[in-house]
Amino acid sequence: MENLLRRCCIEVGIVTSGSTTTYAPMQFYKKTEEYAVEEQLAVVKDEAINNALFFGAIRRVTKLEPIVKDRVRTPFIDRPEIMDPSLLMPYTSAMVRFYGMLNLHKGTLDEVTQVVTPGSKVYVIKDGSFLGNFIKLSGRIGIGSHKYSGWEVPLDPAYVQYHIGVFGATGVGKSRLIRGLIDELLRNGFKVIVFDHSGVDYSTYYKDYTVGSKAISISPPTIASVLASKARLPWQSYGEYLEVAVLTYVMGEGDRNELVNRRVGKWGKQEFLKHLRQSMSRMSAREATVHKAGLFIDYFVNEEFFEELNKRSVKPGDIVRNSLERGLTVIDLSQDTDLVVKQAIVADVINEAWDMVKRGEVNTPVGLVFVIDEAQNYVPEDSWTICKDPIETTSREGRKWGLSLILASQRMARDIAANVRANLGTVFFSRLPTQGDLRELSGYMDLADVNESVLTQLGIREFFVAGLLNPLRKPILLKIREVR
Ligand SMILES: Nc1ncnc2c1ncn2[C@@H]1O[C@H](COP(=O)(O)OP(=O)(O)O)[C@@H](O)[C@H]1O
Ligand SMILES: [Mg+2]
Repeated sequence: MENLLRRCCIEVGIVTSGSTTTYAPMQFYKKTEEYAVEEQLAVVKDEAINNALFFGAIRRVTKLEPIVKDRVRTPFIDRPEIMDPSLLMPYTSAMVRFYGMLNLHKGTLDEVTQVVTPGSKVYVIKDGSFLGNFIKLSGRIGIGSHKYSGWEVPLDPAYVQYHIGVFGATGVGKSRLIRGLIDELLRNGFKVIVFDHSGVDYSTYYKDYTVGSKAISISPPTIASVLASKARLPWQSYGEYLEVAVLTYVMGEGDRNELVNRRVGKWGKQEFLKHLRQSMSRMSAREATVHKAGLFIDYFVNEEFFEELNKRSVKPGDIVRNSLERGLTVIDLSQDTDLVVKQAIVADVINEAWDMVKRGEVNTPVGLVFVIDEAQNYVPEDSWTICKDPIETTSREGRKWGLSLILASQRMARDIAANVRANLGTVFFSRLPTQGDLRELSGYMDLADVNESVLTQLGIREFFVAGLLNPLRKPILLKIREVR
């Protein structure tokens, strides 16, 4: 133990009165005050405990002074000239928030069951590489190291299926972090489908694995949703008509036997409008309803949308199969400028994966991860989108089939539907553009007193990781490794 402390740690202070099993208050020595920095990892050595060290993070660093106390009035306040500065004894206090007990004998990280004795020495960990010896995982995902101790924190691939969220202001490095994660997931045998919203974050880096979204076909029911959305036709009144019209346009009318040999007709705006009016009339839609549907689609949906349907020949099923074979597919959604169409592709690909799983076409769990960056466009809190339902279903039930999500956006609340974000087993978070997200997160994840003010100081590539992927199960501050 002495050896370890000498090699990897620096003695910085002692535990003061008032410790519990969750934390120990401490004071820094004058000569080591430079080490009074939040989020450093620390150990506490209690002489009464053999072969074990309390282990945790430094939080709530506070500068105090016993004469000019914050809640006591002294004559010096109004007459600073009578105060001799040499009388002051400023000192730095903090707390060590415990994460566990390092059992040096067994090499395990155990629960803290004892309370540390006041006067015990506190050490800040300068080289955390030894910490790896206390964590036993069957695989490892490494995307960065602890900011101060340099410990390359091994993340646990067993919990990827509980979904991952990445949150932080623009430019903090969310997309780079996810790229680091993707490489590690592939190395661990996962399959990944990336929905690249803007086409700059992933497509350019995985060129050989990228498919342009314009090549991907959209299923008839989803085309109906896209048309309703684009033409602003309420689904309640028009959904059924649109679905029938699109299906019969693609498959033809008549009974099944007759349909088998029919070739898919060419898409065209005028042809479709004509067909829609006939189909709706056949379904006894009111004259005014037929008129409005035709008029609105004519006005709001351009020719190009229909023309492009003809060029969409890659089936979502091919995308999924390709990903399972090759490991990775990136879908460059920037080819489709229309958000509704992007959502449609996300919906169809995820739905297809579910269908394949349910039909038993692939071995489960599949270990397939869907990456949805800029997720506020796909599962926002307060509006419906075409792909919201499949994303929600995946977040709720995907785990048992091995279908999981990585979602990224700037904020948690509002950007991501509440039921989806409550299902995120692991969250990476950095500087957040709004207050309050951290409080909400603390509702379903142990944040061990990480406070908002620390977040505002974080730089680029600095993220806390909290939740299941993190073997400590309490947030730790990572510096994400350099991603090309
Ligand atoms: N891990 C990293 N390695 C190298 N550069 C990074 C890393 N993270 C962020 N950067 C730099 O910061 C910029 C913004 O990162 P990005 O991942 O696009 O942020 P975000 O997705 O949060 O907006 C990148 O273009 C890059 O220059
Ligand atoms: Mg980004």
